[in-house]
Amino acid sequence: MPPRVIHDPVALRAACDAARAAGQRVGLVPTMGALHQGHLSLVAALGPLTDLRVLTIFVNPLQFAPTDDLERYPRTLDDDVALCGSAGVDLVFAPSPAAMYPPGFQTHVEVEAVTQPLEGEFRPGHFRGVTTVVNKLFNLVGPCAAAFGTKDYQQWRVLGRMVQDLSMPVEMVGCPIVREADGLALSSRNRYLSPTDRARALGLSRGLRAAEALWAAGERDAARLAAAAHEHVAPSVDRIDYVSAVDPDTLQAPPAGTTPTRLVVLIAAHIGTTRLIDNAELGASSH
Ligand code: PAF
Repeated sequence: MPPRVIHDPVALRAACDAARAAGQRVGLVPTMGALHQGHLSLVAALGPLTDLRVLTIFVNPLQFAPTDDLERYPRTLDDDVALCGSAGVDLVFAPSPAAMYPPGFQTHVEVEAVTQPLEGEFRPGHFRGVTTVVNKLFNLVGPCAAAFGTKDYQQWRVLGRMVQDLSMPVEMVGCPIVREADGLALSSRNRYLSPTDRARALGLSRGLRAAEALWAAGERDAARLAAAAHEHVAPSVDRIDYVSAVDPDTLQAPPAGTTPTRLVVLIAAHIGTTRLIDNAELGASSH
């Protein structure tokens, strides 16, 4: 069945209030649209936990720097709504920027240390935009559970910190990366890639596999694990923002002299004008 599509935040809140009053558990999947199987896996993960599933589609200007791809970010609302219909979404919320940020808007939510490295270094202000919009969506929807992809690994950690620190009554559901058969992590930005560039993009997952193989062989030195990944990524891409192996909770290098039992390898790299990210957890998964 096609989902109901709502554009007005007041109408969204009313629909979610009514569902809760009727005893329904409301679940939330925040997205920026250009939906793919990765997003649909988030909806599926909420299936057993919720009765009404809300998927939001909003290309959030607050999380894009002036040099980012806000204008060209794919906007495919009709296709997205059709996909939602077959994926068990009950309600799609697709607001305009003016509805989310009316004149006079001046309040932000900011998480501190865990936003600083990696993406924080290359996209200053990005997470402030993410945490602010996710806060607003939580307030409008009032979900008991919300699902996020761990492809945006640092985002997942930042949002988890926010929910914990601000005692938000939301169960955070982290979902594994969905990959194409050849290893490419699904991303809305993959549609920018030409066939040649798509082949080059496989350097990222090859790098992660190399780090995983080294970890499986017993290597526990974060710098050497990152170097193994870097060796595969560097020849495939035009520019690397980072290839790092860090502690999965703090996203900092493990303390010197310790032997980590868990790490996460994170990559951000540019192919032409497209910026791609990918990651792999080493050791026990923490979501
Ligand atoms: O991961 C995304 O698509 C976005 O950062 C999110 C969580 C929908 C906030 O705009």
